[in-house]
Amino acid sequence: MRQLNVGVIGLGYFGERHARIYHRIPNARLAAVCDLDADKAAKLGADLEADVYSDYQALLDRPDIEAVSLTVPDRKHVDVAIAAAKAGKTILLEKPLAHDAESARRIVDAVEAAGVRLMIGHILRFDPRYVQVHAAAAPERLGDPIHLRAKRNGVRSVARRLGSASSILFYMGVHDIDAMQWIARSRISRVYAQKRQVLGTGNEDALYAVVNFENGAIGNIDYSWAWPDGLMNGYRAALEIVGTRAATYLDCADQGFYAVEDSTTTGGDTHLWPEINGRIVGDLADELAHFVDATIAGTPYLQHYREAFDAIPVLDALARSAETGQPEDVIR
Ligand SMILES: NC(=O)c1ccc[n+]([C@@H]2O[C@H](COP(=O)([O-])OP(=O)(O)OC[C@H]3O[C@@H](n4cnc5c(N)ncnc54)[C@H](O)[C@@H]3O)[C@@H](O)[C@H]2O)c1
Repeated sequence: MRQLNVGVIGLGYFGERHARIYHRIPNARLAAVCDLDADKAAKLGADLEADVYSDYQALLDRPDIEAVSLTVPDRKHVDVAIAAAKAGKTILLEKPLAHDAESARRIVDAVEAAGVRLMIGHILRFDPRYVQVHAAAAPERLGDPIHLRAKRNGVRSVARRLGSASSILFYMGVHDIDAMQWIARSRISRVYAQKRQVLGTGNEDALYAVVNFENGAIGNIDYSWAWPDGLMNGYRAALEIVGTRAATYLDCADQGFYAVEDSTTTGGDTHLWPEINGRIVGDLADELAHFVDATIAGTPYLQHYREAFDAIPVLDALARSAETGQPEDVIR
């Protein structure tokens, strides 16, 4: 069986999961892992029988490594992705493509100049709930979209852990901007946002926005990083779209699993990246399997990176609007 030789750069919360998944994918071979934190890299490398680096350029210089997952913090995507493109690697870059449209453009330019392949880790494209809402919102079923609503709320400890390395828009917001534009079959052209920042986590506590789509639909976005850590499953997400003929919606608050003790009831992830019978399954595993399969086969990725790019100018406009207090056009 042809095996794709893969490296993972950035071994934090998400990169460790990428590495563990590649380790179990039959047509992938986890050749190397890299993190600035040499101890972290050494421990994971020993566990997964992969070579270890603390300098990403040294990993990229290895000619036998064909593809890389880039799971460094959002603000570092641009440097690492451009270096990976220059090194001729096939790239799976975690969302958001970059932390602003100018950096995203630089990555796309470098990828196109080098002639390498790029996929962005928009995991909701692999989530059965979002995929089914997308199908149910097809124009022949839904008619014309009238209004959409997206919600993504998380716990405050994540905002505190990431601090200035990310933002409510990069870390959470990009998921729903991409999903809304995909499901509405239309791009967002204008936004009006407001935010609050009172908890002192080093990040925004909440950002609410009204958005306009090119096809006339109106949308409503509700992002929060203010929930106490006791929030069941650590997050609540939902999306709904109402059209001239039909409507469709999803709700991720209920993961369908509860563990009940005398004073607490807890849940657990059953969709995104749960570990079941000793292996990580669910949306992230499906995303990485698709990346490996399509790379080996030379077939298109589920989402073209230019479509992933479309979310970034919307994030810029939301950030500007939340600062100015005025509606802002999306500058593409
Ligand atoms: N798709 C999703 O649902 C999802 C979920 C979580 C995170 N992410 C994305 O994954 C990326 C990583 O997020 P995270 O939560 O794992 O962050 P993290 O802070 O937990 O981990 C980042 C890791 O990168 C390492 N790093 C930083 N600079 C480096 C460099 N120059 N070379 C090598 N290693 C370096 C850090 O030491 C750290 O271990 C972000 O882009 C984030 O948005 C996506």
